[in-house]
Amino acid sequence: MGSIIEDELFSSSLIKNLHALDFDYIPGELPHRTEQLKKLALMFKPLFVNIAQNAYIRGPVGTGKTAITKYFCQSLVQIARKQGKILEYVHINCRKRSTNAMVLLGVLNHFDPRFPDRGFSVQEMLQVIRTHLQRKESQLLLVLDEVDALLKKDGSNLIYDLTRFNDETMRTATAVSVIMISQKDIFTGLEEAVLSTFKRSNVIILEKYTRHELYDIVRQRVDLAFHANTVLAESIDLIADIASESGDARFSIELLWKAGMYADEKHAKQVVPEHVRAAKAETYSVVTETKLKDLGKHQLLTLLAISKRLQKEDVAYATTGEVEKTYAITCEEYSDEARAHTMFWNYLKEIEHAGFIRVKPSGKGQVGKSQLISLPDIPAEVLRGKLEALLA
Ligand SMILES: Nc1ncnc2c1ncn2[C@@H]1O[C@H](COP(=O)(O)OP(=O)(O)O)[C@@H](O)[C@H]1O
Ligand SMILES: [Mg+2]
Repeated sequence: MGSIIEDELFSSSLIKNLHALDFDYIPGELPHRTEQLKKLALMFKPLFVNIAQNAYIRGPVGTGKTAITKYFCQSLVQIARKQGKILEYVHINCRKRSTNAMVLLGVLNHFDPRFPDRGFSVQEMLQVIRTHLQRKESQLLLVLDEVDALLKKDGSNLIYDLTRFNDETMRTATAVSVIMISQKDIFTGLEEAVLSTFKRSNVIILEKYTRHELYDIVRQRVDLAFHANTVLAESIDLIADIASESGDARFSIELLWKAGMYADEKHAKQVVPEHVRAAKAETYSVVTETKLKDLGKHQLLTLLAISKRLQKEDVAYATTGEVEKTYAITCEEYSDEARAHTMFWNYLKEIEHAGFIRVKPSGKGQVGKSQLISLPDIPAEVLRGKLEALLA
């Protein structure tokens, strides 16, 4: 009752819990992923008799790969604790930590937030992890999310080393289990030795969500995030329609969030289809906040440099040379060291690959030296604002 009165007193927004629209938020239930969660539970049963398990989860963007894995691992940790077992669960996003050393540092920071980020070799870091596990008599449950980024940069050595941990520690309390997640098929690129530790039966493939499934997912978020009766059923219908083209739950939740913000801005009493259409117009851009959040700091700084150039010059293109200079200055502003030229080129390639920028040869007899960069479908000023907010 109290909360109803409080709602009335303080409601100037249709949204009662913005947190539930966060990209990292995991709801208490995951509609249409029960079967997959059951399958995971079955796979990881052997952990309770100290036998490590490895699994691989694959599916297009927004199909719940990260969500079901986090949901499952967090539940598993709690259930294990009740049985007197300690599971150390570490979730690494390999797009943000794409080298062996950075992944291991992420694991070590779980045990010791002050572990130095320099001065240890990969083998030494593995040894320190082993010592932590032995001391705590615990198992490690390591999730390598977006693992293709790690494989691309450093190959599969680390995964081999990690899964081999168990040859020596098999059936002791310190087994290491690895869950790999990716959008693309990574198995074809893996060496036989690594492949054999990932059994065929331990693969989960997630399909794009159907319109009906997206409807249920959005409906759940409406209940979690909005005050009662503030979102028209037609609005949910429309969101499900729009998102069903991609089957991407993340896109559907982003649309709901944007539509809610838009309705609030208009001081509307309900989120109506017109607000959804406005949200779609804004979210349609390839440069969405969710995608930006997946970039590392220096990719963001590079993109910020591009948006600064294009804003200042009032022209369609910025050259790579100009952007690199602005990148260096921007790094300074954010008290970070500008990375070397080859790294800068890698950042450009990555953000081009992700669709944030278009790159074409300058055609002024400078081919190979300089290229022209443009933004596909977002005003530079808007992009700059988003990036500065993210980097703050
Ligand atoms: N079955 C589901 N029920 C509720 N929310 C979901 C479901 N699947 C995905 N989501 C939400 O959609 C968004 C994208 O899911 P995510 O797991 O990040 O996708 P992926 O990792 O496959 O790209 C997240 O906000 C997540 O909480
Ligand atoms: Mg994910």
